[in-house]
Amino acid sequence: MANKEQIAVIGAGLMGHGIAQVFALAGHMVTVYDPSAEALATLRDRIRANLSDLGQDTKAADLVFPVEELGQCVASADVVFEAGPENLGFKQKLFEQLQLLAPEHAILASNTSVIPITQIMRGLRTGHRALGTHWWNPPYLVPLVEVIKTPDTDPALAQRMFDLLAAAGKTPAMVQKDVPGFIGNRLQHALWREAIALVADGVCDAQTVDTVVKASFGRRLPVLGPLENADLVGIELTRAIHETVLPAIDRTPGPSPYLQKLINEGKLGMKSGEGFRTWTAEQQADLRARVLTHLKAMNAAEGR
Ligand SMILES: NC(=O)c1ccc[n+]([C@@H]2O[C@H](COP(=O)([O-])OP(=O)(O)OC[C@H]3O[C@@H](n4cnc5c(N)ncnc54)[C@H](O)[C@@H]3O)[C@@H](O)[C@H]2O)c1
Repeated sequence: MANKEQIAVIGAGLMGHGIAQVFALAGHMVTVYDPSAEALATLRDRIRANLSDLGQDTKAADLVFPVEELGQCVASADVVFEAGPENLGFKQKLFEQLQLLAPEHAILASNTSVIPITQIMRGLRTGHRALGTHWWNPPYLVPLVEVIKTPDTDPALAQRMFDLLAAAGKTPAMVQKDVPGFIGNRLQHALWREAIALVADGVCDAQTVDTVVKASFGRRLPVLGPLENADLVGIELTRAIHETVLPAIDRTPGPSPYLQKLINEGKLGMKSGEGFRTWTAEQQADLRARVLTHLKAMNAAEGR
């Protein structure tokens, strides 16, 4: 296999254009398919705008080729990333097509947020080359990509994907079992469940939850993961803390009824101006800008 694999991306939306950008910047030729003419027409300009904002070489966008036909997009691909709508039926049908349209050696990857990869790839004749790659938004700023194996995935191909992502500057993580939420979203939503329970129980308001996280362990998280932290404080202390705290922590097996209450009240989050907290348009723009500035500063500090 040549050093620079040809990449195909299916879906030119938020995630697809960012994934294409990562590989183009790493010197790969990238073809992108989307049924939306507008998504294809704006693809290179969106990538150029991101690159320009980051002070990176905008010429990389010239390696990205919008393609109007699915078969043509993947005909010469070594690796295919699917970043289309989050819908099981859509993804199943797409991968059935891809296994016929892409070269036999091509790795086929889905960027689903939460759908088990095994469900998407069920029924594929060539399931050994299918896996999950879970990117985080924005894909060109957040380093992690989880590589998810199904029981059918050829471990050597999963490793090839891992190496490809690492060579493109990402921080890949191998997920050995195809569990719902993979690793990152399981951890993230375990925290969200307790955050919601604290508000629902009247322990504090939503703003206080966010302040506590951001001003305490959130500060250390970029350099101190939870299990490094457990080792740091010691396993006996960790066990002692868990004896007291874990029985009190929320164990609701499904979404909190508090979420349904907010939905019933029309409090849908930023898009309706209120969710857990109220949001003016200015506050929303300010928060989005702060997240981007923070991610860019972290990457700059790490020399990424
Ligand atoms: N947005 C996130 O933060 C995030 C993070 C991780 C994973 N994901 C997952 O990535 C995938 C894409 O999400 P997104 O946020 O980029 O969505 P998006 O809506 O921005 O983009 C989806 C794109 O798919 C295109 N599309 C529609 N029908 C299609 C078809 N038949 N074939 C190919 N493309 C088609 C749409 O035109 C659109 O451009 C989803 O599975 C999502 O769950 C999203």
